[in-house]
Amino acid sequence: MKKAAITLDRAYVIGEVDPRIYGSFIEHLGRCVYGGIYEPGHPTADAMGFRRDVLELVRALQVPVTRYPGGNFVSGFRWEDSIGPKQSRPRRLDLAWFTTETNAVGLHEFAAWCKQADTQPMYAVNLGTRGPDAARNAVEYCNHPGGSYYSDLRRQNGMAEPLGIKLWCLGNEMDGPWQIGQKTAYEYGRVANEAAKVMKWVDPSIEVVACGSSSSEMKTFGDWELTMLEECYENVDYVSLHRYYGNRDGDTPSFLARAVDLDAFIKTVAAICDAVGGKKHAKKKLQLSFDEWNVWYHSNGQDQDVLKRGKWGEALPLLEDVYNLEDALLVGSMLITFLRNADRVKIACLAQLVNVIAPIMTRAGGGAWAQTIYWPFQQASAYGRGTALRAVVASPVYGCKDFDAVPCLDATATLAEDGAVTIFAVNRSLEEGLELTADLRDFPGLTRATHQALTHPDLNAVNTEENPHNLRPVSLEAGKPDGGKFTVALPKQSWNVIRLTR
Ligand code: AHR
Repeated sequence: MKKAAITLDRAYVIGEVDPRIYGSFIEHLGRCVYGGIYEPGHPTADAMGFRRDVLELVRALQVPVTRYPGGNFVSGFRWEDSIGPKQSRPRRLDLAWFTTETNAVGLHEFAAWCKQADTQPMYAVNLGTRGPDAARNAVEYCNHPGGSYYSDLRRQNGMAEPLGIKLWCLGNEMDGPWQIGQKTAYEYGRVANEAAKVMKWVDPSIEVVACGSSSSEMKTFGDWELTMLEECYENVDYVSLHRYYGNRDGDTPSFLARAVDLDAFIKTVAAICDAVGGKKHAKKKLQLSFDEWNVWYHSNGQDQDVLKRGKWGEALPLLEDVYNLEDALLVGSMLITFLRNADRVKIACLAQLVNVIAPIMTRAGGGAWAQTIYWPFQQASAYGRGTALRAVVASPVYGCKDFDAVPCLDATATLAEDGAVTIFAVNRSLEEGLELTADLRDFPGLTRATHQALTHPDLNAVNTEENPHNLRPVSLEAGKPDGGKFTVALPKQSWNVIRLTR
């Protein structure tokens, strides 16, 4: 067994973990809303049609914010279609996903679902086909107490108290040619600035997220951030980052190392924000909202097939990736990367929540189950709060096609308010276990340890409705910290959570 080491000290701190890095995302796409969170007639459905079995799985993820209603969908969306009596709401052709949107679930229903799921909405406005006017009206509808056209309309629609939505996205992926109303960086920067300005005039307490590049692979990446921030820096609070990875060529060692690329992406965007801020002599520092991230590739071809069979259907099975062990390991590494960048990444949304590239799957009229990626997310969300520690890691390395000298051990740690230290670790090695020694020099009071690991002999193993617990974290033998040292064995190809408590 190879050896690795991690050194933790109270003085080595990255920053406070913003709980919103455990955010999620619900888009009107495929079976995420219809047939996902909402299925009237399902045996577990409540009076509003929300599936209770799904809610239970969502609550266990402890998701502080949920981005909604898109995604690409938002760039053609009229928010006014989604309010008022259901029977009067229009059916619309959604050009983002070539499906029909019934608007049966709208703003009020989503707000009610959020309450039940114990999450806060992060609401996206349409800057594709619409602009500042519709955006400021949405803020008035949601957040103004009353005595104006839109706030009174909300009251008429049965909601006396404002929804109080604090976090708003200024459009979605506006650099992408697939976007309805794609813009140049300058065009977007201008419209984002004007939208942010008037939205904040309506409610100065809100925070807004400007669209960064839709991926670091876009040709315009970097230039897009620089140009659009020149126009809107003063009025925005966050820049968005989106990134999906896939193992299309079956190169698992490279796939498991993708967090190296993720880390570089985050640092580049932070540097660009600071460069623009510096140029503008700004006092304000922009923070990052990684509001779409995940593994996404299993379903790529299938989506085209579904759409070829017929466009304009309702709730078509789109983007239904079935996740395996190696996907869960990369998701674990991505979470570790967010923790390592806790000083800049303040929001992150796993895309998405149910059925669509999601940790939770459902069958119409049937069960709801946790996919493999559910578990690293659930455990990081449960234990990765408090202070992000700057872990000093020494690990053997491996080479692969896309990266040199990748550490076998990807690890970081957090310090909770109650003094517990949690180490999150992925052993990327496909060949052997790792003996990890933790130097807990500054935590002498920690005398108890638990170790949970997610692993499987088969990297392609998945969970299904029939076998929902095929992969889930299991407790492994953990020794005791002794004189500030602790040693634990990490199985090959595994995600690990080691909790050290008094
Ligand atoms: O999450 C799926 C899609 O991916 C979103 O709608 C879009 O923003 C991104 O391209």
